[in-house]
Amino acid sequence: MDNHHVFNMDEKLWTQVDELLETNLISTLNEDRRLINQTRDNGLPGINVTPLQGALLTILVKSINASSCLEIGTLGGFSSSCIARGMDKKGKIISLEVNEKHKTVAERNLRERGLHEQVEIRHGPAIDSLKDMLKAKTYRFDFVFIDADKMNNKNYVELALQMCHKGSLIYVDNVVQGGAILKPSAEHDSSGNVEMVKYIKGNSKLMSTCIQTVGEKGYDGFLLAYVL
Ligand SMILES: C[S@@+](CC[C@H](N)C(=O)[O-])C[C@H]1O[C@@H](n2cnc3c(N)ncnc32)[C@H](O)[C@@H]1O
Repeated sequence: MDNHHVFNMDEKLWTQVDELLETNLISTLNEDRRLINQTRDNGLPGINVTPLQGALLTILVKSINASSCLEIGTLGGFSSSCIARGMDKKGKIISLEVNEKHKTVAERNLRERGLHEQVEIRHGPAIDSLKDMLKAKTYRFDFVFIDADKMNNKNYVELALQMCHKGSLIYVDNVVQGGAILKPSAEHDSSGNVEMVKYIKGNSKLMSTCIQTVGEKGYDGFLLAYVL
């Protein structure tokens, strides 16, 4: 069916549809909005996942019964809280964040919600943290959520994969960036996404898809990879 002519396709419409879906589907919406607002009120940018996207993270984590998750890019801890929601209280998340203020705000937000023992935020460039973790040889993640500087996405997938196992999932946000993946630019850091999909093409350990999305955050898309 061709749906193109039902409405003018624009961000206002996508936002209205997101609002209708959030109101009907997301039982934790008030709680989610409170965390997102607390993050914004502390001066952090509104670049968190949406409540609908957060619920997808929760569902994925829950459906693979994950108990050990890695997040790259914490911001104010909203996506960490969604990942934590998919696990029981024993489940752990290591979240990597380069910005000290973001780490402080996230820790406060997560503490207020009793999630501080489940989410450990490590400060520093994620590449360095990942290399340190690899050296330690003790990390094994069931679920990886990549949502930091897009320039490094290929490096993040490559490093994180070494700490995954058969059946792990790797989710990468902001892969399409309004179509910027077709015309890589410094503004969107999209060359990292181009490198990432080329890397995945040559990697027999990953079965992957990328779904284009629209919504209150505009036109984008996420990549989901299953470790073979
Ligand atoms: C899109 S935000 C993360 C949003 C968060 N995942 C959520 O949905 O609530 C990206 C975060 O990655 C952090 N970041 C950017 N470059 C980084 C790097 N090289 N290493 C670690 N964190 C980085 C930023 O400071 C920012 O807090």
